[in-house]
Amino acid sequence: MKTPTTHILSVSYAHPAQKTVAETFANENKLPCQPLHRAQSELTLNFTEMQLEIIDRQQKMSLHVDFIGGSLRHRKKYGGGKGQTIAKAIGIKPGKPVPSVLDATAGLGKDSYVFACLGCPVTLIERSPIVAALLKDGIERASLNIEFSEIIKKGFVLHNIDALEYIQALDETEKPEVIYLDPMYPEKKKSASAKKNMQILQKILGHDLDTHEVLTAALKKAKKRVVVKRPKGAPELQTERKATLCYESRGTRYDVYVI
Ligand SMILES: C[S@@+](CC[C@H](N)C(=O)[O-])C[C@H]1O[C@@H](n2cnc3c(N)ncnc32)[C@H](O)[C@@H]1O
Repeated sequence: MKTPTTHILSVSYAHPAQKTVAETFANENKLPCQPLHRAQSELTLNFTEMQLEIIDRQQKMSLHVDFIGGSLRHRKKYGGGKGQTIAKAIGIKPGKPVPSVLDATAGLGKDSYVFACLGCPVTLIERSPIVAALLKDGIERASLNIEFSEIIKKGFVLHNIDALEYIQALDETEKPEVIYLDPMYPEKKKSASAKKNMQILQKILGHDLDTHEVLTAALKKAKKRVVVKRPKGAPELQTERKATLCYESRGTRYDVYVI
């Protein structure tokens, strides 16, 4: 269902100290590996002493997961807390306990982090080994921060697996209250750097054309609601039922299926 575009990606290392870990990852994922100064591919998954990053030669930019600084810190401080649209979409209400959330399309973990900052225990599911490696690296670095270690204590657990497989295997005792889906869709504008991050992911992953199957499975396993993030104006994902509620903010719509 997906367009495999991994041939544009290679693995590299900034220093010989990262050679072994880079080569192990490259072998496991059948990707070429070389020192950074010799890498020629459009995208390079680069192991450095500080972090794991993707370098995009065409766009002359790099991306890594940072839960402590940058845009996520800003979002945490000024993002609107329980009043923000995404919080309402997952069913957060003042004075009520927060739900557990299974983020079935974790990506770079931004939405997962918002749920965690709202106090929700979060399970992150990401099927791409490359994106999961970036996320794992971000979580490991952030764990050294006291505030983030509180988030981890509540639950912020990543699994590198396909969401359909994971959700279908959930038994009665493991059912999350909320299942959240944010599939990759074509971007129209190319301005903001957040969008550029998504463009890099799209080059690696293509578009997610199979999320309706995950939605069908999620509707059977979520205890309270399933939430699908869509671009404003996009059709609902095809499934056996219609969304119960919709919330909109800027270019985004959240389709909510109350169980
Ligand atoms: C648009 S991105 C999600 C962005 C994320 N919400 C964030 O805030 O960073 C979609 C991600 O979902 C992942 N994905 C799509 N379908 C999946 C599936 N069936 N199982 C696991 N991961 C999936 C893709 O690999 C991609 O990394």
